[in-house]
Amino acid sequence: MLSHIAIVTALASISIAATLSQANATYEYIVVGSGPGGGPLAANLARAGHTVLLLEAGDDQGSNPNISQILNFNRAGNDPSTRWDFFVKHSDDQDREAKYEHLVWKKEDEGFYVGTNPPGNAQQLGIYYPRAGTLGGCAMHNAGVSAMPPAADWDHIADMTGDETWRAANMRKYLTKIENAVYTPNDRNHGHSGYLTLTQSGVNVANSSDGRTLIEAMAQALGLGNVAIEDLLKRDMNADDAQRDESTGIFGQLRHADAQGRRVGTNTYIRATLKDPQAFPLTVQLNSLVTKVLFTASNSSSPTAVGVEYLYGKSLYSADPRYNASAEGEVRQVFASREVIIAGGVFNTPQIMKLSGIGPAAELEKHNIPVIVDLPGVGARMADNYETSLISLASRDLINTSGTHAVMLKSSVAAGRERDLYLFCGAFSFEGYWPGFPTDYGKSQYECAVVYIPSRNAGSVLLRSSNPRDTPEINFRFYENGGDQDLTAMLEGVKWARAVFQNVSSSLGPWKEVHPCKHPRTDCSEEEQKDWIRLQTYSHHATSTCQIGADGDKMAVLDSKFRVRGVKRLRVVDASAFPRVPGAFPVLPTFVLSEKATESILEDVRKGRE
Ligand SMILES: Cc1cc2nc3c(=O)[nH]c(=O)nc-3n(C[C@H](O)[C@H](O)[C@H](O)COP(=O)(O)OP(=O)(O)OC[C@H]3O[C@@H](n4cnc5c(N)ncnc54)[C@H](O)[C@@H]3O)c2cc1C
Ligand SMILES: *[C@@H]1O[C@H](CO)[C@@H](O)[C@H](O)[C@H]1NC(C)=O
Ligand SMILES: *[C@@H]1O[C@H](CO)[C@@H](O)[C@H](O)[C@H]1NC(C)=O
Ligand SMILES: *[C@@H]1O[C@H](CO)[C@@H](O)[C@H](O)[C@H]1NC(C)=O
Ligand SMILES: *[C@@H]1O[C@H](CO)[C@@H](O)[C@H](O)[C@H]1NC(C)=O
Ligand SMILES: *[C@@H]1O[C@H](CO)[C@@H](O)[C@H](O)[C@H]1NC(C)=O
Ligand SMILES: *[C@@H]1O[C@H](CO)[C@@H](O)[C@H](O)[C@H]1NC(C)=O
Repeated sequence: MLSHIAIVTALASISIAATLSQANATYEYIVVGSGPGGGPLAANLARAGHTVLLLEAGDDQGSNPNISQILNFNRAGNDPSTRWDFFVKHSDDQDREAKYEHLVWKKEDEGFYVGTNPPGNAQQLGIYYPRAGTLGGCAMHNAGVSAMPPAADWDHIADMTGDETWRAANMRKYLTKIENAVYTPNDRNHGHSGYLTLTQSGVNVANSSDGRTLIEAMAQALGLGNVAIEDLLKRDMNADDAQRDESTGIFGQLRHADAQGRRVGTNTYIRATLKDPQAFPLTVQLNSLVTKVLFTASNSSSPTAVGVEYLYGKSLYSADPRYNASAEGEVRQVFASREVIIAGGVFNTPQIMKLSGIGPAAELEKHNIPVIVDLPGVGARMADNYETSLISLASRDLINTSGTHAVMLKSSVAAGRERDLYLFCGAFSFEGYWPGFPTDYGKSQYECAVVYIPSRNAGSVLLRSSNPRDTPEINFRFYENGGDQDLTAMLEGVKWARAVFQNVSSSLGPWKEVHPCKHPRTDCSEEEQKDWIRLQTYSHHATSTCQIGADGDKMAVLDSKFRVRGVKRLRVVDASAFPRVPGAFPVLPTFVLSEKATESILEDVRKGRE
């Protein structure tokens, strides 16, 4: 198992210290990555009195209005100052890939071509998958939708690992600790003093006559009869209610933003921690691309993480649109007396692990990386929700309809009693991601986006090379596993929305459907629609590339306390850790996870354990 040990001597750490301009040589904890997993964890550990170095590859765009105003999320997603452009595959089938309507190509001269008829000599890049390489991670350009996962997702971890602290009833306390649920000020089952302000958007939809018409039709389709639209739009999807996971219908969308629409979460919490008069021992170093974990051998058989190596400089990762291959950055090392915590996100965490010698031995050997631990689960079994959309154009412009609301449904293939479809509807267009997204279909556009939660795919993140500046090879393997059931559920979501639109045809019809049944067609068969959905499904909630799992499970990367198996003093705390994609939206679960990890780490300090 242990074939290579990097010996780090005290002498080496002294000489390296002299070259560091900002970071000192040694901290108690080093956290790599400042997204919802790593950012709050670093702040929490510093608030508990520990010296922490938070290393982030990007810079700080917290004051950029694209980023700071949450409703600018589409502009944020296109902003080259935060974007990390990944190009992924949905399968190994070239023909299938070529049919993806937003396939991205690099044009011969400059820029991207998006579509299926590329100009001559364009180079196929793949399917665009957005990430944010910036202080705060993807919580800086996401739409901020904040939904607690079903209880079953937490209980699953408890069942697998035997660690009862993962039970949903216990996990709820982390939500109430971190949230400031301003949308429900008097609800004592919510928290009101945490750093994560949650607001409910979409209530304004009810001001518009067309918005009302559509939502009333949805209420009717759901059999909700005479309930006031305003009350439906205020329903709390995170309510502390035993029946919550089974209850379907209309809900308000919750976002991590304040009442002025300012984005709240990672960046604001890190900044607040840095400027707190109590001078917590948090050091944040930007423009620092971590390339590997450094290990030393203690007397035990387990290698021990003692620090990290990183490249210092701007835009050093090739996913960054400002990347310049000849600007190489400066190699530096820094050391942790207690622990190293990896939180680079679903693609980068497995990449860092593999570059450090932790991963499937055969893959590491192929790239001449000395194997520290043969852990086949690293970069395997990647999960994601599946997404599609019904977009239709009304027969006239919609009258001042803004905002979105959620509709939760239960498909015919749902395994248990839980809802498994999350739709969000409104006068917008969202069809996935590509450079320059989204398409604007004009003022008559109306969409119900369909998110199928428990999709059965298992993707992979593999090293393309041993160069830490390269992006990994990412394949989602859509519909390879359980595809028929998944497609059945996706189509049911689409059909539900279409029936609602058709029921308001007297005021807004005839509708022209953009897809799946493209106008002027109105008679697409179920098979045709499924074919379109299967080829055009997109996703952006990837998780589970370094999963928590049971002792004795060969594929488990982490134990229930986030510790990387086979080594000491190394944890992974980000969305990679989830054994399956949590609910329909991973960001709030990742904030909750970060809190749970804080407690695990501080517990170890208390026990005086190594
Ligand atoms: C466009 C978009 C919209 C989304 N919308 C929603 C939504 O509305 N609701 C929802 O629940 N979820 C949403 N998500 C998903 C959600 O934002 C992520 O699941 C969440 O941010 C994951 O957190 P994380 O800490 O695991 O990783 P990330 O947020 O990816 O953070 C990882 C951080 O690590 C840094 N990093 C990576 N590699 C290195 C390295 N080698 N060295 C140093 N630093 C490194 C990165 O720069 C980044 O800052 C969205 C995601 C995207 C991309
Ligand atoms: C905001 O994002 C857009 C792309 O969506 C970009 O063109 C613009 O420069 C960005 N503004 C700032 C201040 O970065
Ligand atoms: C919508 O109506 C509410 C009252 O129901 C009001 O407070 C709000 O300002 C209105 N919003 C818009 C955009 O008109
Ligand atoms: C929205 O539309 C209604 C008519 O449905 C109109 O009375 C109202 O003034 C409009 N509000 C705004 C903010 O344009
Ligand atoms: C459409 O409207 C009719 C009558 O208004 C109602 O009976 C029916 O349930 C509605 N169907 C859907 C799918 O909303
Ligand atoms: C390693 O073993 C030596 C002698 O057996 C002992 O002196 C030393 O303290 C041990 N070091 C650690 C880190 O356990
Ligand atoms: C890329 O980096 C090199 C080396 O630092 C520099 O000389 C060159 O000007 C840079 N190119 C661009 C386009 O910035």
